[in-house]
Amino acid sequence: RQLPPHVFVLFGATGDLAHRKLFPALYQLEKKGLMPEGLSIVGTARRDYTTEAFRDEVHKALLSFVKEGVEDDVWARFAPRIFYVPGNVDNEDDFRKLHQFVLDVESKKDHEGNRLFYLSMAPRFFGETALYLKKVGLADTKGWRRLIIEKPFGHDYKSAAELNDQLSSAFAEEEIYRIDHYLGKEMVQNIEVIRFANSMFEPLWDNRSIASVQITSSETVGVEDRASYYETSGALRDMVQNHMLQMVMMTAMEPPSRLHTEAIRDEKVKVLRSLRAYKEEEVGQYVVRGQYTAGEIGGKAVPGYLEEPGVAPDSKTETFVAAKLFIDNFRWAGVPFYIRTGKRMPVKSTEIVIQFRNMPKHLYFNQDGNLGPNLLVIRINPVEGMYMQMNVKRPGTDNVVVPIAMEFSQSADKSPEAYERLLHDAMHGDSTFFTRWDEVSLAWKFVDPIAHAFANNTVPLHTYKAGEWGPKAAHDLVKEQPGLWWPLY
Ligand code: BG6
Repeated sequence: RQLPPHVFVLFGATGDLAHRKLFPALYQLEKKGLMPEGLSIVGTARRDYTTEAFRDEVHKALLSFVKEGVEDDVWARFAPRIFYVPGNVDNEDDFRKLHQFVLDVESKKDHEGNRLFYLSMAPRFFGETALYLKKVGLADTKGWRRLIIEKPFGHDYKSAAELNDQLSSAFAEEEIYRIDHYLGKEMVQNIEVIRFANSMFEPLWDNRSIASVQITSSETVGVEDRASYYETSGALRDMVQNHMLQMVMMTAMEPPSRLHTEAIRDEKVKVLRSLRAYKEEEVGQYVVRGQYTAGEIGGKAVPGYLEEPGVAPDSKTETFVAAKLFIDNFRWAGVPFYIRTGKRMPVKSTEIVIQFRNMPKHLYFNQDGNLGPNLLVIRINPVEGMYMQMNVKRPGTDNVVVPIAMEFSQSADKSPEAYERLLHDAMHGDSTFFTRWDEVSLAWKFVDPIAHAFANNTVPLHTYKAGEWGPKAAHDLVKEQPGLWWPLY
């Protein structure tokens, strides 16, 4: 599909996200011929660069962050698209200068006034920036306009609603593209295809055939240099409110009537409407939180969370959350959805494990006298693929049963990075894999009582050693399941 010409206005153009992810993603689009002739990128930030100096900086960033290197002819096409104008996001005059600059660029390139704004900046500036865009007329254009922002969208339901009010006084809901980068991952997008393009899964995809669902997203990294953000967020707000619930929605949603953005998002949001809400006093029965202490990962000693730079010595911030969720609708009544996510765990991995019910009567057993369940494992990261675990007879024996895996995997290197795909979608006006306000608001309403229980210490803060799979209490959550948490590879 040919993209309509437009100006991509990038706030925070000299920042870390722009360097590491956004420019490399735009470069890849250029390389693949997916950028239209007329697209211009106007970067803005506080630093006083000229366009020339900024182009040099982008080139350096690409050299560092594009894995396969920067090709000269691609750069020669990409560089002339890039412009820079310095500006401060709390200065109205700077917004007026930016507006004039954008108009100049548009007049030279015949842009039809299509504008895409990306706010790659501290979230506290989102609301005000949207209001300035409106006030100075930047958002007032004869073409289309779109606004891209990335989490955190508020800190709780109330602050998210306030932010949304500010954004929606300048942009309509369908013009706001809220990034959840998990929705840009190849295998997260593939969940829909696996479910709705294979007649063998759909008839089994409910509480009659499925015993439980487990979703794990584990990381080996600690808090790194992000303590000032993470201390106010913790794993609950950082991962559960968004990425983990998105994966729950994709796994549990009903088939959409058509493959249209709103039809898909309508079905996703219904999952959140059916998600059983926990009152603050119930949280302890269903949710476990933990914080890592010093330990070892991959043979290397690492400090505990409390020793990390920027972390308060008595911090109660959780670096691990596990929870047992229920979706109280006809399809899923009674099926636990277990989620867990944490930092400083033994491996970096994201997997969704669908565990099927046992046979009504076991005729066969393995050598330990058990029969393992059937599993469908969707592997999101770092391997992209899936496998089905089944039981077969061990060759040469009468009836010794062994589990085998039928596996499909693809090289993650071939898949576009999440940002590349999401920027491309936003340029095309396709918001299917962006989050709608009702998803964000319902996710906050679910998370808020849990956050209160954490803040009021009504739920114990367990510890786990760096390099372990979270605290023991997380294993107790799944104790009625034979396999506990499924091991990851
Ligand atoms: C981000 C969180 O949204 O997702 C980070 O803020 C986390 O704390 C990251 O490390 C994980 O993403 P991925 O793609 O590496 O699984």
